[in-house]
Amino acid sequence: MIEGAEPPHGLHRRAGSISSRPHSNQISMATNKHLFLSSIFLSFLSVPLCSRASPWQARGSGTSLRVDHGEIFLVSLDTTFSCGFYSSGEGTNAYYFSIWFTNTTDRTVVWTANRGSPVNGHGSKISFNREGNLLLTDVNGSTVWESKTKWGKRTTVALLNSGNLVIRASTDQVVWQSFDSPTDTLLPSQNLTRETKLVSPSGYHNLYFDNDNVLRLLYNGPEITSIYWPSPDYNALQNGRTRFNSSKIAVLDSEGVFRSSDGFKMTASDSGSGIKRRITMDNDGNLRMYSLNAVNGNWTVTGEALLQMCYVHGLCGKNGICEYSQGFRCNCPPGYEMTDPKNWDKGCSPTFSVNCGQPREDFTFIKIAHGDFYGFDLTSNKSISFEECKQICLDSCLCLSFTYKAGGGLCYTKDRLYNGQVYPYFPGDNYIKLPKKVTSTSSASRHSSLTCSPKNAKVMLVLYMKNSDNINWLYFYIFAAILGAVELLFIMTGWYFLFKMHSIPKSMEEGYKMVTSQFRRFTYRELVEATGKFKEELGKGGSGTVFRGILGDKKVVAIKKLTDVRHGEEEFWAEVTLIGRINHINLVRMWGFCSEGKHRLLVYEYVENESLDKYLFSDRRTETLLSWSQRFKIALGAARGLAYLHHECLEWVVHCDVKPENILLTRDFEAKIADFGLSKLSKRDNPSFSFTHMRGTMGYMAPEWALNLPINAKVDVYSYGVVLLEIVTGKRVSSGIIIDGIEMDFMQFLQELKQMLARGGDLDIVDARLKGHFNHEQATVMVQIAVSCLEERGKRPTMDQIVKDLMVYDDEDNHPAYVL
Ligand SMILES: *[C@@H]1O[C@H](CO)[C@@H](O)[C@H](O)[C@H]1NC(C)=O
Ligand SMILES: *[C@@H]1O[C@H](CO)[C@@H](O)[C@H](O)[C@H]1NC(C)=O
Repeated sequence: MIEGAEPPHGLHRRAGSISSRPHSNQISMATNKHLFLSSIFLSFLSVPLCSRASPWQARGSGTSLRVDHGEIFLVSLDTTFSCGFYSSGEGTNAYYFSIWFTNTTDRTVVWTANRGSPVNGHGSKISFNREGNLLLTDVNGSTVWESKTKWGKRTTVALLNSGNLVIRASTDQVVWQSFDSPTDTLLPSQNLTRETKLVSPSGYHNLYFDNDNVLRLLYNGPEITSIYWPSPDYNALQNGRTRFNSSKIAVLDSEGVFRSSDGFKMTASDSGSGIKRRITMDNDGNLRMYSLNAVNGNWTVTGEALLQMCYVHGLCGKNGICEYSQGFRCNCPPGYEMTDPKNWDKGCSPTFSVNCGQPREDFTFIKIAHGDFYGFDLTSNKSISFEECKQICLDSCLCLSFTYKAGGGLCYTKDRLYNGQVYPYFPGDNYIKLPKKVTSTSSASRHSSLTCSPKNAKVMLVLYMKNSDNINWLYFYIFAAILGAVELLFIMTGWYFLFKMHSIPKSMEEGYKMVTSQFRRFTYRELVEATGKFKEELGKGGSGTVFRGILGDKKVVAIKKLTDVRHGEEEFWAEVTLIGRINHINLVRMWGFCSEGKHRLLVYEYVENESLDKYLFSDRRTETLLSWSQRFKIALGAARGLAYLHHECLEWVVHCDVKPENILLTRDFEAKIADFGLSKLSKRDNPSFSFTHMRGTMGYMAPEWALNLPINAKVDVYSYGVVLLEIVTGKRVSSGIIIDGIEMDFMQFLQELKQMLARGGDLDIVDARLKGHFNHEQATVMVQIAVSCLEERGKRPTMDQIVKDLMVYDDEDNHPAYVL
């Protein structure tokens, strides 16, 4: 049923025409250069139109769409996008005027006019008025949204293939477009500019260009505001950004590359043309790129700004703690419970109340190992004892908890608990202050007592108080434009007062910064000098060539020149900083990196001895034959290194290329694993991940590589099993082996081992060069572990388990520093 006597198939209509002759006023497509199918020409009459006809139908002179009569207002020529009324959900009467992907499974919304103010599902309408203003009116006639265009009667509106809703004046000039007012999503070719920002649906997380031209993510919560990306621990340059390009433009291109004028670049993992993509500021505070699977209409994440979700501020709300555990998890501290069991944005609330007259004896502290709440320090002190720190917190009624770092005797008391995280490598612990009576029900042990490096720490994050009302963005922009220098002064003064008011002393920031100075960015020139123009080659691997170098401070380093770098600058930067934070005795330490133009180099600690393969397989070195105890130590060390990568400090690192060539030996024959982290870092909230290309070495690669199954930490366990057999036998078993004159392939060898273990008999596979000098128990357990590592992946042990099993047979008892 069509009111207004309009034909259902008219494409374009002359403005103002209310002709009822169906075909008289079709403007030919040829005269219109633009690729839009559906376009609406202004009519002076706002005739309610009822239509359930095909989306191809354009609305002619009846230019209003009533929500209760039909949902679709316009469809783009290629049908990708639809525009109209979008229900806010099953069983509600709330509607939004939105643009969405027509065919995706969840009809993904990319733009909304009346965000936060839905209109009634009965009687609301979208229409042009006389001036050419597109109006969204609620059932009571109130204007909920308007385009504010006043170009008169010949104004038209169209939905382009790009997903851009445009209003044109009669001159064909675009006078308004939805691309200029994004909500949470950017589509390819849509610019994020100095005037626009993306805001997550909850309203708490924003992507915007800051006054210093840097693209940032901001948590804009109910009580605080804080920047969390790029890392506030570093300046723009260290984050791989520049402040000096003031054009403030970021755009996703058709190839899947999102580029920002500050140098940030995010490349879709499926980069290339022909795929529909979007960039969305998600509700959990991460900025993600999605690609559409055209077959099933589902979206896949193909890029994201933050690799570690706990970095997102406000993720777990006030008093909440973010913790890594199979992805991330929000927790409440002891004595606190979730404010709203369905919504972490609301954080946690204390289950107790405190009055300031309560005696100190009433309180106790519960430790959150490696925990911290960033910012909001009530007091901060250096070089004081734990007891003193505790007393300071007891003395203040406002103190809710304190963080203590034994290293420098650093003590920070907190009067607000925000941005809580448990970081296994955070060199301190947090202590929650609780009335004694509530503690009985709480559990204090939240994390295994692993010892992570005290060298790495998160630095103080930039936090500033906000007033209770929202930040007025317009104010910022105008202020920035007009007042430049005055503003700087203002901010500095503001900071001064903030520091004073909230006692965040500078010394504290410095304290935090010191500990990260180990890892740094080098210039290409520095590294050319350090290596004497890449003279001394130490080795060559799949990912690049390694050279010996001597830094300015006389430190000897190994410098790896990467050959096949697929990553963009920012991604590279993000990954190496993660790797740089990994520090374990059994892992080769990375000191820094260089990323200049096309050069990508990594600077590693120099390990004196050569890699394990040289000792195991090479004949020319019989004088340096590894003794049994050395072999066991190497096996245990390598297991510890891998366990650390998989389970401890940065649990998302899967090595993917474990082999003797990647196990370096120190002067004391301590194993150090090299080359970790170079594979794509896995995303932990997604328990398995796939690679766009294979990595690894034949013979050490788990069968799932070939089967194209998702890759997880179990591939390293498999490779470790092969290495373990090689340590025992002193032979390359990966390519087959000869035992007692019989040539076996790897599978036969494995069967043989299983039978041998079942018999419990002699281990005649142990390296003959040891002439029987080996520990039978240790050798047996090594073979047992190796065999279990080579099982189908569900049955393989974890590296943690392997370390524990090996340690039972470790007869050296001098490992105080890394007992797990
Ligand atoms: C959307 O689905 C319709 C109906 O199945 C189909 O005709 C149209 O080509 C699809 N459009 C796109 C862009 O896939
Ligand atoms: C600034 O950024 C824009 C957009 O990315 C780019 O086109 C322009 O060349 C940059 N200007 C300078 C001076 O680098």
